[in-house]
Amino acid sequence: MRAIILENKIIGNSSLLKTRRDKYYKMRFSCDNFSVASPGQFVMIRVNNSYDPFLRRPMSIYRIPHHPTLKKGGRGGFEILYQVVGKGTNIMSELKKGDEIDVLGPLGRGFWIPEKIERAIIVAGGIGVAPMVALTEEIRCTMQDARCKITVFIGGKTKNDILCKENFKKIGAKVHIATEDGSMGKKGTSVDLFKTFITDSQSSIFNRQSSIIFACGPQRMLKAVADIARDKNMDCQVSLDKRMACGTGACLGCVVKVRSLEFGVRNSNPQSAIRNPQSYKCVCTDGPVFDAEEINL
Ligand SMILES: Cc1cc2nc3c(=O)[nH]c(=O)nc-3n(C[C@H](O)[C@H](O)[C@H](O)COP(=O)(O)OP(=O)(O)OC[C@H]3O[C@@H](n4cnc5c(N)ncnc54)[C@H](O)[C@@H]3O)c2cc1C
Ligand code: FES
Repeated sequence: MRAIILENKIIGNSSLLKTRRDKYYKMRFSCDNFSVASPGQFVMIRVNNSYDPFLRRPMSIYRIPHHPTLKKGGRGGFEILYQVVGKGTNIMSELKKGDEIDVLGPLGRGFWIPEKIERAIIVAGGIGVAPMVALTEEIRCTMQDARCKITVFIGGKTKNDILCKENFKKIGAKVHIATEDGSMGKKGTSVDLFKTFITDSQSSIFNRQSSIIFACGPQRMLKAVADIARDKNMDCQVSLDKRMACGTGACLGCVVKVRSLEFGVRNSNPQSAIRNPQSYKCVCTDGPVFDAEEINL
């Protein structure tokens, strides 16, 4: 699918960095046939018209078409947020308004939002924040009475790595920030903040059974969040970041080991784990979002 770039600009404090590497960009596209996408899905972007780099690059959908600002002109559209880390993202950062690129998507299985939840807890590390904006917008659209409380924990190395806090605040979410060097918010990680929140006596008055955790970030962070969720017996969905070649289930380059949840692993007799042998799933087609209990993080 051809997509026209409407905007490609540096965002946040990363504009102060001296080199392009590690800067964050927001890219906005206009394209037809992109009307059905759900939060947590992604696109595979061909960054130029040559075969170098050969592979498309996976990017989460940061904002999705039903948002009025993307519907201008009657065409569908979407936005991504990306960090410049190597060749592909460096080429992307040089693209200009009006350039056309080839995009495959929306792909994969995104977050699923239970019908009735009282509280959504979002934990994001670094660029893992990208799919969480679409998710919180979707939660707000789905739960129109706004009774569902949304609490967001964002973490990054420095203040340059803290993105989207205003997006979350606009949606009415309570935002907590942590940086490893203490340059913004609390010194530490988003998991530290999340853990304090969950174990804190004030916040423990909320009903854990009608709350759900959504997490996206580095694998270590996802494991820590999943461990806490298991300990507190809370539902948790994690979005995995695996290197991908095709994005469509063809190359099997992105498989992960999973446990079947057919009989429900949570709270079940350990015997059931024996009845549910491990198998493999593709992150690109079966995920990138999984129930944390399904994955060996
Ligand atoms: C489902 C999914 C959604 C993603 N969403 C986003 C997003 O919204 N924004 C964003 O900035 N990035 C996202 N990523 C990561 C992004 O795809 C990679 O950063 C990008 O492909 C790197 O391309 P490159 O050519 O610039 O880097 P390369 O030259 O290929 O690699 C540069 C460095 O980045 C590392 N790297 C490459 N690919 C990945 C990867 N998939 N995960 C972790 N490290 C990687 C390499 O190990 C190397 O150290 C996502 C990845 C997946 C699988
Ligand atoms: S990237 Fe090819 S199967 Fe997932």
